[in-house]
Amino acid sequence: MDILQAVQARHSVRAYTTKTIEKEKINALQQEINDIKQESTLNFQIVTNDPDAFNTMTAHYGKFSNAVNYIAILGDKSEGQDTECGYYGERLVLLCQMLGLNTCWVALTYNKKKNKINIAPNEKLICVIAFGYGVSQGNDHKRKSFEQVTKNAQNAPDWFKKGVEYALLAPTALNQQAFRFSINGNKVKLQRRLGIYTKIDIGIVKYHFELAADKTNFVWE
Ligand SMILES: Cc1cc2nc3c(=O)[nH]c(=O)nc-3n(C[C@H](O)[C@H](O)[C@H](O)COP(=O)(O)O)c2cc1C
Repeated sequence: MDILQAVQARHSVRAYTTKTIEKEKINALQQEINDIKQESTLNFQIVTNDPDAFNTMTAHYGKFSNAVNYIAILGDKSEGQDTECGYYGERLVLLCQMLGLNTCWVALTYNKKKNKINIAPNEKLICVIAFGYGVSQGNDHKRKSFEQVTKNAQNAPDWFKKGVEYALLAPTALNQQAFRFSINGNKVKLQRRLGIYTKIDIGIVKYHFELAADKTNFVWE
């Protein structure tokens, strides 16, 4: 499975089997984190076998089961790194998918008090990504159309249309898809609309667009 196939195959999964994740797969994730750290100041922690992290009232009634493995994404307390968190976190989500693992971004319904994450005094926890072997591959959801997330782009080149197509497959908090693309020559603008966690969403969407549109075709405005 290549990365664009991973984009198409990915759906959020909240119910996992009890199968242990192979060491090689954890190592592959750690290697990707090491690569990301060459270009990002974010901090990532892979936590396995933590039965408490998703065991909250909300998570319990909000349908997580056997979710015991996750990647915690931490940033500097004084920096706004939410968009970066989305961008690099999605790189890990798609790697999981290629490794045969399922995932779910989780900003809200995890146990913020009881978990195995080590947070340094200058750090803040931005988001976590649950991963594991899903009971299923998840379900597709209703998605916005090209017209709903673009402005004056009917005659846009194919690379732009393909970028938006894959951006529409990106996970967003509450499936809100609160973003809009516009194009001016080779300049592409991605704007955030109203909603919660939209800064993280925008990073995820940006990553998907870049994967499909080919970075040599455009520059971000
Ligand atoms: C930034 C972000 C935060 C999210 N937080 C939660 C969460 O707290 N609990 C949850 O069950 N799902 C959460 N999700 C998963 C979304 O609900 C899910 O991605 C969305 O409904 C679209 O479904 P899909 O991922 O299958 O395409 C979050 C997703 C994102 C991108």
